[in-house]
Amino acid sequence: MLIIVAQDYDEMSRKAARFIAAQVLLKPNCLLGLATGSTPFGTYQELIRFHQEDGLSFQNVRTVNVDEYYGLPASHEQSYRHFMQENLFDQIDIQPGNTHIPDGLTRDPQTYGEEYDELIVAMGGIDLQLLGIGSNGHIAFNEPGRYFSAQTRLVDLNKLTIEDNARFFESEDEVPRQAISMGMKSILGSKRILILASGAGKAEAVREMLEGPIDPMVPASILQLHPNVTLIADKDALSLVQPA
Ligand code: F6R
Repeated sequence: MLIIVAQDYDEMSRKAARFIAAQVLLKPNCLLGLATGSTPFGTYQELIRFHQEDGLSFQNVRTVNVDEYYGLPASHEQSYRHFMQENLFDQIDIQPGNTHIPDGLTRDPQTYGEEYDELIVAMGGIDLQLLGIGSNGHIAFNEPGRYFSAQTRLVDLNKLTIEDNARFFESEDEVPRQAISMGMKSILGSKRILILASGAGKAEAVREMLEGPIDPMVPASILQLHPNVTLIADKDALSLVQPA
């Protein structure tokens, strides 16, 4: 795994945005895998700036998001569809039909998950997958467990994830208890993966991802098996990692 050190969140965001912009320039119709949350927010702000000030075009870019809360309609202000529209899609020239986010209201998550994975294959596979990492080591909403789950599916959110994400809701009770999450097969099937981490709250998860054994209790540790992963992390997130 290539590790790029940033001083702070803003520098991490700038470096990540340049990485993604380079992918878009090299392959204007690339398929980007995207995540939501605090971590990529600044990266999306930078990409919007590249579009508005430097003319970076997303006209032919296609996207597929890694997760969505189960039970939230797209119109809910905490849905990940809403997050993506507000924080990226509505501010760039991407074609709405080229953006894909799991449907949080699907009545048949099993079939839906299979179709989501098939769609990714049909679109030629993910060229660049952007990920954050949970403080418990999750990627997408693949939570710590006894085994790595390959398929996109309905998942139960871990207690720590519910507590972490309560900051976006009025109260912890309002955080959905389940989500549709892309599985490890589609994530690891990506040609290139860019994972971001910022802040001391991620330091333990980053250390375990990089130095620990590959263990389903630390879902991000599976990235050790992928040949083309870049981690851009700030100093606080890397504070527990042994210098090479
Ligand atoms: C969100 C996602 C999650 C987040 C992770 C970190 O789409 O896939 O895995 O990346 O929970 O969240 P933040 O960035 O809010 O700390």
